[in-house]
Amino acid sequence: MPDTIHVINGPNLNLLGTREPEVYGRATLADVEEACREACERHGLELVFRQSNHEGELVTFLQEARGSLGVVLNAAAYTHTSIALADAIKAAGLNVVEVHLSNVFAREAFRHHSYISPVARGVICGLGIDGYRLAIGALAPRRAM
Ligand code: DQA
Repeated sequence: MPDTIHVINGPNLNLLGTREPEVYGRATLADVEEACREACERHGLELVFRQSNHEGELVTFLQEARGSLGVVLNAAAYTHTSIALADAIKAAGLNVVEVHLSNVFAREAFRHHSYISPVARGVICGLGIDGYRLAIGALAPRRAM
């Protein structure tokens, strides 16, 4: 369990590839999972990759990540609305990197506020699928070469 990374994706990210490709790119959620699996393998880590359109289910996923090495969380629209997700991160004592495919700060004002950022270790946005790879690299233990 300590060598496991959980990648948790929120609402509408199951539609990646066809959803507003000019904003989110052409990569599908399966492509994101593949990129995460490769990154975890490179670091010798286990991957749990999940997606839900339901806030409560995302809370459960976060609780189930308790004791893991860390969580890469793209909470999608719940980023901007969910006190429940922020509370779950604190309650489970998670090491979270918040990720967004798009640069939320170059978009509508309602996307500029995040309930996740204050309880996250770091935030990556605007780098597309690479953001997930970078987040896994940041959570991976530094091993002596
Ligand atoms: C998103 C940005 C959010 O504002 C939006 O609601 C999403 C996706 C991103 O990955 O860029 O659904 O989290």
